Amino acid sequence: MSSREGDLAGGERIAAREGGLPPSCKFVTFEGGEGAGKSSLVVDVAGRLRGLGCEVVVTREPGGCLMAERIRELVVGGGPGAFDPRAEWLLMLAARIEHVRGVIRPALARGAWVLCDRFSGSTVAYQGYGRGLDLAFMAGVHRFVLDGLEPDRVILLDIDPEVGLARALGPNRFEGESLGFHRRVRDGFLALAREDSRRWRVVDAHAEQAVVAEAVWRALVMV
Ligand code: TMP
Repeated sequence: MSSREGDLAGGERIAAREGGLPPSCKFVTFEGGEGAGKSSLVVDVAGRLRGLGCEVVVTREPGGCLMAERIRELVVGGGPGAFDPRAEWLLMLAARIEHVRGVIRPALARGAWVLCDRFSGSTVAYQGYGRGLDLAFMAGVHRFVLDGLEPDRVILLDIDPEVGLARALGPNRFEGESLGFHRRVRDGFLALAREDSRRWRVVDAHAEQAVVAEAVWRALVMV
């Protein structure tokens, strides 16, 4: 199938959902290690959806609103080891609460698509698997933070950390962490995808950008 036919097939399914069926897939998050190419893939998906007439909000975490972008400067900038892992985790959650309240819920309420570059999966992978915080405790606090909100679909851009770190644009405090840290993060993402295969789709991010973009689009539109 040519990539254009792929687009149309996906477009028809989305059009069907837009035309009366429940909006089952409007909140989409993109997860993955450093240098997986998430940001440009989010822009690609947004362009395809807008081409189908959808309203799309593109946003990111930590960040996405004024307060959360301030937290981002604190927590993503700076040298390695600048934060206690608990403080790092709670700052991510504080940023998320403001972002969900100020941007994500209002956009979903008016029927827009929300494409978010990182979300709760990154917290589990980085602060849980990477930093070693207690996963069960984190999950309970996360339910409190999200208050029932979950992404409809999570696209995991899976990449070998050695390849990803060589591609990463930086500067970012997490890029300075050890390869072992980034391997634990990758394992964490893959574990999350296995545990929730209904929501998560794993896309191999090693290929060239156009190939990955097609795979992401298919992963998004396949019900
Ligand atoms: P990025 O926008 O370039 O991906 O950088 C954001 C960094 O923040 C990235 O290294 C992952 C990290 N991060 C966490 O550690 N926990 C989180 O919950 C989120 C959203 C991001």
